Parts: sequence; structure tokens; C-alpha cells
Amino acid sequence: MAQAEFVAQESSKVRLTERPQWKALSEHQRVIEAVHLRVLLGVDEPQQPLEPASHFQRPRRYVLQLDDLVLDYSKNRVTDRTIDLLVDLAEAVQLRKAIEQMFAGQRINVFEDRAAAHVALRGPRGKPVQVEGRDVSRARDRVLKRMKELAQQLRHGRRVGATGQKILNVVNIGIGGSHLGPAMACRALTPYCHPALTVRFVSNVDGSDFADTVQDLRPQQTLFIVSSKTFNTLETMANAQAARQWVVDELGEDAVAKHFVAVSTNPEGVRQFGIVNDENIYEFWDWVGGRYSLCSAIGLPLIIAIGPENFRQMLAGFNRMDEHFRQGAASKEQLKKTMPVILGLLGVWYNNFFGWPTHAILPYAQHLNLLPEYLQQLDMESNGKSYTLAGEAIAQEEKGWQTGPIIWGQPGTNGQHAFYQLLHQGTKIVPADFIGFARPHHQVGDRTDKLGDHHDKLIANLIAQSEALAIGNTIQEAERSVRRWAEKNGRSLDAEQLQWMRQSRYFPGNRPSNVILADRLDPATLGKLIALYEHKVFVQGVIWGVPSFDQWGVELGKELASRAIEDIKNTGRPPQHDMSTNALIHWYQQRRA
Ligand code: F6P
Repeated sequence: MAQAEFVAQESSKVRLTERPQWKALSEHQRVIEAVHLRVLLGVDEPQQPLEPASHFQRPRRYVLQLDDLVLDYSKNRVTDRTIDLLVDLAEAVQLRKAIEQMFAGQRINVFEDRAAAHVALRGPRGKPVQVEGRDVSRARDRVLKRMKELAQQLRHGRRVGATGQKILNVVNIGIGGSHLGPAMACRALTPYCHPALTVRFVSNVDGSDFADTVQDLRPQQTLFIVSSKTFNTLETMANAQAARQWVVDELGEDAVAKHFVAVSTNPEGVRQFGIVNDENIYEFWDWVGGRYSLCSAIGLPLIIAIGPENFRQMLAGFNRMDEHFRQGAASKEQLKKTMPVILGLLGVWYNNFFGWPTHAILPYAQHLNLLPEYLQQLDMESNGKSYTLAGEAIAQEEKGWQTGPIIWGQPGTNGQHAFYQLLHQGTKIVPADFIGFARPHHQVGDRTDKLGDHHDKLIANLIAQSEALAIGNTIQEAERSVRRWAEKNGRSLDAEQLQWMRQSRYFPGNRPSNVILADRLDPATLGKLIALYEHKVFVQGVIWGVPSFDQWGVELGKELASRAIEDIKNTGRPPQHDMSTNALIHWYQQRRA
């Protein structure tokens, strides 16, 4: 049975929390809990001697680099011993074996009984790559070639619609993994997008999404890409039908062949929908998970927007990180030098041993504004599980363990004026990833431009926020800050008032963060960045023993929604749900009557 192939299955026979490596980490946490980042970062003297080297040269020791992509994890509540113990845990759950299995294209998606071989999508062209013992490189390269051809036609104005007018607008209809990746990447790579082509995205079954998206477009100049792995997703099918009607109303039934293409693993479903010509169907395969599918034909809107050469560079960036990750499996020592491993282990450290359940993604790049949303699906749909690969429930009580964190965030500096208050002074501690780039794409604020020095300000804020979170201030500094405030505002404060006010100016610090930096947000860097997070999620899934590649947890809601739709429409029959749900359906029926 496929399940037996997966080594984590074996390792999951020992309860995670009963492993000696887990217990060692729990004990070590009690030591680290008492050490402030101010000490680890050389601001304060240690109260008692720390283990050798743990607080020296952190910026050198706790930095990993792949080309120009840098992961600086020096502001984390770790010492060399922490990393050793975390890697011991990774060894105990056989992370290295799991990495090898993924790269070998084995059936690691056990509850869907298939491989999870997205890494095969970005291997070098023409080089064989095995998925479940079959070389998939030719099929992959064939589809990529067709994607390039369509992209070139559109970019060079050679693709015309039913009336002979040039196609100028491309609208992708998809949701989840068939939407978030290309939408995020198109936005991230805005400076690389073709200036004369409009590429938009419709995802929500709220009709206003479709209506708003097409309101200034003309069917004669619009090509729809219907993207759906299964081709039976409610939202996508509803929007695709609306788009079809929008085109047919204006141009007639025959126009569908000129104005629709589909991306799917289900060509039968595509044909049933009415996209019947093979040349309009771009296939991918069940070994590509939806949220891991950007490098498959799901990337069609992206390759159209940024062009084949930029798309190729993005794939090369993915592949570069893939190879870095794969090499991490070479030895225990090598694991420590591998970015996704370190990022994943740090997340485990905070989630499981400090009990901090959320993780913030804070890109200091406006073009990465969709990254937190994209990573929400990648991470939370992958590791938001409470069952193991061995089919056992992960208990919530003492013997259980936390799995996937809550991922959230938004770009800096906007977030600073919204939720950073809680990050700095709230009772919850939120580990965070700051992401920034040395060079802007835009002339605005690139120093040379008379519009200002936006970029210096942006990056200074990134650096300052990670510093403030880690170092905070002292109560004496807080008191001085109150005095300055009083002076400036002409207030005189007595000692009691001073003491009362100083707490509001106190920043405890000791709040960890990673800083991820690169030269520029270009296609290759974006590829590396996404692959970094994909593999981080993989590392954590292996540690927690959860099946990262299925998503059964979305099914019940889908089933109940289709029942609710029937009930809403069938006013003759009383709805058969619980009393609260029946009342909601009744309320809606009444309002719509
Ligand atoms: O409902 C969740 C989900 O299945 C995601 O995993 C997937 O990315 C999304 O729906 C869209 O699915 P499809 O590509 O099959 O339309």
C-alpha cells in the first residue's frame, strides 16, 4: 500500500511528545525562556554564563544565504544548542528520508493515494524526472511549450477573438490554488508585466467579483482562462458560466472557442463545460497539488503577463531552492545550513515549545501584498490537521501537540499603523518574517529621483521593527520617554504619575523574527521565496507527522453548502438542519421572497 512507502508512517509509531528529542527540547525551552534577546544580541550582560558562542557573532552564525537571498535568523530565541536539539528532532522523524521521497516522486500524499511532485515541474527542460517511476519531463515540457506559444501570441497581438479584434484582456477564473498563486505572482512581478495586456482574476462566488472585473472590458477583446484542477469547484463553475453567458450574449455561441481556454487535470469536465478543442485545454496532473501548482499550467495567466523568459527565470529560481533543499538531506550537518529546514524548525520551536500559535508574514514590498494570503493557503491548508499519517487523531490534551500555525500579515509599513501595537505590547507573542529588498523597481524614492527616498525609509522601517521587537526598551528608558513627553507638552508630573505612565511606554522586547532579504524582487527571487515557504511547510508537516498534501477539512463545508443551496431554493420543504441553521435559511428565504 502506498501508505507504507512513507517513512514518517513508521516514525509516527512513536508519539511525537514522547520522543526523547521532544523532551530534551521541552527542558531546554525552560532555560531559553529565561534568556532575553537583549542578552543574546549583546545589548545586556548575561546574568549567568551562557553556553559558548551562543551570544557571539550571531549575525554571522545565524545567517544562511542562497545567491543573493539571505535568511537572517539571528533575532530568534535560540542558541547553538537549540538548533542542535531541533535538528535531532528532525533526524528522529526522518526528515531527510522524507525529503528524498518527495524528490523521488513517491506517493507521499497518502490519503489521496498519489505523489506530491511539484518539484518535478521546475526541473531543467529536457532532463528526465521521475514521478511514481515514470518520466514526466516530456509531458511537462510539451505543456510549457504550448503555454509559451499562447503567451507569445497574446503578447505580440497575434491572438484575435471571434470578431477579428485583438485580445487585450485576459481574465483568469479560479479559486484557491487555481487563483492565489498566479494572482500573487502577477502582482509581485508588476514591473515585468506586459504594458498593453490587462490580466485580471475572478475568484469569489460573490457575483460582484465577476461584475467588477469585467465592467470596463469588452467580450470582443477578452480571453477567459478557466482554471480548476478538478473542474467541478462551485465558485469557478458559477463564474465560468457567467463569463460564458457574457460572451455568448454579445458574440454568439460559436465565440466560446475563441474566448475560452481551460487549465485542468479533468479534460472531460472541461469538454462538458463546452471548451471542446484540445488546443484550448492545458493539462496538468494529479501529482500537482492545487496550492503547489503555480509552476504548472495554472501559471498560464502569469506567463502571459510576464512573458516566457521571465517565467523561465522564475522556474529556475524555484529549482535553485529545490536543489538547496534536496542537498539539505545529505547529512545532519547539512540540515543546519538549509533555509527551509531552519525556517521550519524555528516555527516548531515557537508553536510547540513556547505555545505561540500564529505567525506573521510582513513583506516590506507593496507588490508582495498578496503574499500573506497566498501563504495562508499554502501553510494552513497543508498543516492545519489534527490527524497523523498513521490515521490517528492528534489529541488536544497533554499528550497531543500543536500543528499548523495561523498565518497572517500584510505589507509594511501599512501594518505598522494597524496591528503592530499588538506585536510590540500585546499579551500574545507573534513570531514574524520580515521580507525586504535592497533595490526598488520603481523610480519613486530610489534616491536618484527627486520624488524622495522612499526605499531607504521603507527598509529602515523593516530593520527598526525587527530591532524594536527583539530589544524593546527598559523601564528606565520608558520613564525617560514619559519625561520627554511631559516636557514637550508642558505637563508637570509627580513621581506617582510618572510611575503610572511609564508602563505605557515600556516595550518588553524579546519577540523573535526572521529577516529575509534579497537584492531585488525579480522572477528568480520570487521563485526562490515561494519554494522556501513550500519546503518550510513540508519540514513542519514531517515533524508533526501530518499529511501536508491533502485537504479533507474543506469537504464538509462544501457538502453542507450544496444542501443549503437546495434548501434555500426549495421553499416548499422545511430545511433539515439543526435549529440555528434552519433559522438562518428561513431568514434568508424571507428576505429574498
Ligand atoms: O476547497 C479547497 C480546494 O480544493 C483547494 O485545495 C484548491 O486549491 C481549490 O479548492 C480549488 O480547486 P480546483 O482547482 O479544483 O478548482
